[in-house]
Amino acid sequence: MTTAVEETEKLALEEVEVQLLTEGIYRHYGFDFRDYSLPSLRRRIWKRVYAEGLGTVSGLQEKVLHDSQAMQRLLLDLSINTTAMFRDPTFYVAFRQRVVPMLRTYPFVRIWHAGCSTGEEVYSMAILLQEEGLYERCRIYATDINEQVLQRAKDGIFPLNTMQENTSNYIAAGGNGTFSEYYTARYDYAIFRPSLRENVVFAQHNLVTDASFNHFNVIVCRNVFIYFNNALQDRVHKLFLQSLEMFGILGLGKKETIRYTSVAEHYDEIDAEERLYRRVR
Ligand SMILES: C[S@@+](CC[C@H](N)C(=O)[O-])C[C@H]1O[C@@H](n2cnc3c(N)ncnc32)[C@H](O)[C@@H]1O
Repeated sequence: MTTAVEETEKLALEEVEVQLLTEGIYRHYGFDFRDYSLPSLRRRIWKRVYAEGLGTVSGLQEKVLHDSQAMQRLLLDLSINTTAMFRDPTFYVAFRQRVVPMLRTYPFVRIWHAGCSTGEEVYSMAILLQEEGLYERCRIYATDINEQVLQRAKDGIFPLNTMQENTSNYIAAGGNGTFSEYYTARYDYAIFRPSLRENVVFAQHNLVTDASFNHFNVIVCRNVFIYFNNALQDRVHKLFLQSLEMFGILGLGKKETIRYTSVAEHYDEIDAEERLYRRVR
C-alpha cells in the first residue's frame, strides 16, 4: 500500500514528467500544450501512455519525440474534438436575434471559427446564414490545431447516426427549413451540400503559437478555452482582440467568459447567457 507521502511524491514527479513532455513537444513539433490545464492534460496523456503499451509519461516522451506517428496519435488525444451540429442550440437562437440584425448592415462579413474541430459548428453557421439570406456576403475562416479533424471538416461527411441529435439541435436553434435537405444520406454517412462550404476557408491555426491572420467582424470560439490555464486564456483573448474589428462580435458560448481577463474592458455584453460580446474599445 502506498502512503500519503509516497502518493504526493509520485504526483510531483509525474508533474515534472508532464512538463518535460510538453516542453519536448513544443521544441520539437511546435505544438504548445505547456499551459493547458493540468488535470485534463494528465488524464489524456495517461490514456495515450496505456494505448502505446507504455508505463510512464517519460516513456511516452521518448516515443513521441522519435516517432511522428505517435505524436499524431497523442495530438488527437490532446485536442478533444467533441462537437455537434447546432451544439448548445440556444447560442444560435441568441446569434439570430442579436447578431444577425447587425450583420445585415454590413456589405461583407468575415467570421472566424477558432477551434472548429470536425466542422459541425461551421456547417451550422453556414446553414443559419443561408436561412437568414446572409451567406452570400460572408466569408468563414474555420481553423483548428489538428489537421486530421480539419480534413473531416473539409469533407463535410458526418456519421448518419448523429443526424437525429443534429436535427433536434437544429430545430431548437430556430432552424426554419428542413434539416435533411442540407445533406444526402449514403450508407452510414450524411454528405453535406458542397454549397455550404463554398464561402469557407479551412486552415490549420494554432491559437497558442500562431499570430493573427485577418480582421474579423465575428469570432466564435466555443469549448476551447476550457482546456487552457488562466495565463493562456488571457494570451488567446489578446489575439482575438487584435483580430476583431471595432464593434465586432465575440461568441464564447455558455462555458467561457471574458469577465476575469485583461481584455474585459474592451467589450460590452450583448447576451449574458450565451456570452456574446461586442468590441467597443
Ligand atoms: C471540444 S472541441 C470544440 C469544437 C467546437 N468549437 C464546438 O464547440 O463544438 C475543441 C477544439 O479545440 C481545438 N484546439 C485545442 N487547442 C487548440 C489550439 N491551441 N489552437 C487551435 N485549436 C485548438 C481542438 O483540436 C478541438 O478540435
